[in-house]
Parts: sequence; C-alpha cells; structure tokens
Amino acid sequence: MEKMPYQVGLETIASQPAINALSSSDWQQALPTLRGGQVVLRELRASDAASLFALLTTEEVARFISPPPSTVEGFETFIGWTLRQRAAGSFACFAVTVAGYDTAIGIFQIRALEPGFETAEWGFAIGSDFWGTGVFADGAALVLDFAFGTLGVRRLEARAAVKNGRGNGALQKLGAVQECRLRKSFQKNGEYLDQVLYAMLDADWRGSRAIATAHALRVH
Ligand SMILES: CC(C)(COP(=O)(O)OP(=O)(O)OC[C@H]1O[C@@H](n2cnc3c(N)ncnc32)[C@H](O)[C@@H]1OP(=O)(O)O)[C@@H](O)C(=O)NCCC(=O)NCCS
Repeated sequence: MEKMPYQVGLETIASQPAINALSSSDWQQALPTLRGGQVVLRELRASDAASLFALLTTEEVARFISPPPSTVEGFETFIGWTLRQRAAGSFACFAVTVAGYDTAIGIFQIRALEPGFETAEWGFAIGSDFWGTGVFADGAALVLDFAFGTLGVRRLEARAAVKNGRGNGALQKLGAVQECRLRKSFQKNGEYLDQVLYAMLDADWRGSRAIATAHALRVH
C-alpha cells in the first residue's frame, strides 16, 4: 500500500511494455462508473487535479503514504499516467465522488502484480473531511466487486504502515487478513517504517458477500 497510491517517477515507468497488451477488455477502453449508496466511482479526469491536490496533500492524509505530487500540475501528470496505464491493462484508478456531486475527493487504485491481474495490489486515499463517514466502506465494496468480478483478481494485497491506525482499521473491517510484517519496508521522512502485508482472496470476498446477502434476506 505504501508504494501506492502515488509512485515517484511515474513518467519514467510509463513507457514500460503493457503487462496485458495481448488482450483487451472493456475497462481498458474506459473505466465503468460504479454507483454505491453514497459514492460514485468514476474515471479520473485532468480537471480532478485541483481538488485532489487540495485534499490529498494534507499532512494527515499523506502521513503514511508515498509523497503525493506537490503541485496541481503534478496531479495532472499523475492522472494522465493512470489513463495510459489503464489503457495498457495494468492499472485502474477510480476517482471517489459523493453521489450528487462531481468533485473528486479521493482515489482507489489497483495495479497488477503479474500478467493477467490474478495477483494485484490496491491502495486508497480520501480527503480527511470524509473519514469516518462510510464513504470508504461504500467505495471499497464497489472496488472489490470490480477487482474480483471484472478484473478476475484472485489475490488482492495491501500494505499499511503499522503506525497507520485508520489504514489498518479500514482494511481489517473489510476482512483483509494480516499475513506478515514487512520490517523497515517503507521510508517516510527519512525514517524506515514497518508495514503489515494484508491479502484478500476472491473466495474471502465472495463468502463475505454471500453472508451479507443472507443477512439482508433474513431481515426482510
Ligand atoms: C485509509 C482511509 C481511506 C480509510 O478511510 P476512513 O473513512 O478513515 O475509514 P473508516 O472510518 O471507514 O475505517 C477506519 C477504521 O479504523 C478505525 N481506527 C481509527 N484509528 C485507529 C487506530 N489507531 N487503530 C485501529 N483502528 C483505528 C476506525 O475506528 C474505523 O473503524 P470503525 O468504523 O469500526 O470505527 C483514510 O483514512 C485515508 O485516506 N487515510 C490516508 C491515506 C492512507 O493512509 N491510505 C493508506 C491506507 S493503508
């Protein structure tokens, strides 16, 4: 996770060969718009750069993630890179918006760790005004359905700095399993931090969806 959601030197790796260049899917042409109870996830646009810059570069948001772009123009470059990587079939990055508003308040991204997306890593960041509001859980459910259902992910990894209480709490709420501690695996402000490696399997996700559906049926 902490190599996500931002990557230093994006443009230098943008020219790498496409992981999935031999096959093409609808999502490679354009990401679908995903609608939840309170959020709408959609493809990023260059015009999202200003709001993402304002919301994701604050100290509390950026504290445990790789340094975000330091200018609006840097976010525009990042957004352009995400679109090219999506077209190449190796990456998907959704803008988080609150239903009824079009402003991007955060991002969810998924990157393939091997050809074909069977193993992937995801990351997320949301403006702190929206923490604890349910926006994360709502958006995460949409992204997990997209990852396991559309991309065909079998194993979805995430990394969270041990000190990142909300990041760990958010992943644990989703049922992500702590697999190990990655010692001194993430450098932030000159300090090497330990991270927790989390993983969710497609079977885990389908099981939790089935339980949720069963509960919903019982209530009615
Ligand atoms: C990660 C992030 C998207 C989660 O969104 P959020 O709205 O804060 O998440 P939620 O409130 O739904 O869930 C966080 C959970 O962690 C819990 N939590 C908060 N501080 C905690 C701590 N120190 N230790 C353990 N759990 C903690 C919260 O209580 C909450 O659980 P609850 O809903 O059962 O009360 C958001 O915090 C964020 O953008 N953080 C900055 C970016 C970042 O760190 N991204 C990488 C994450 S690995």
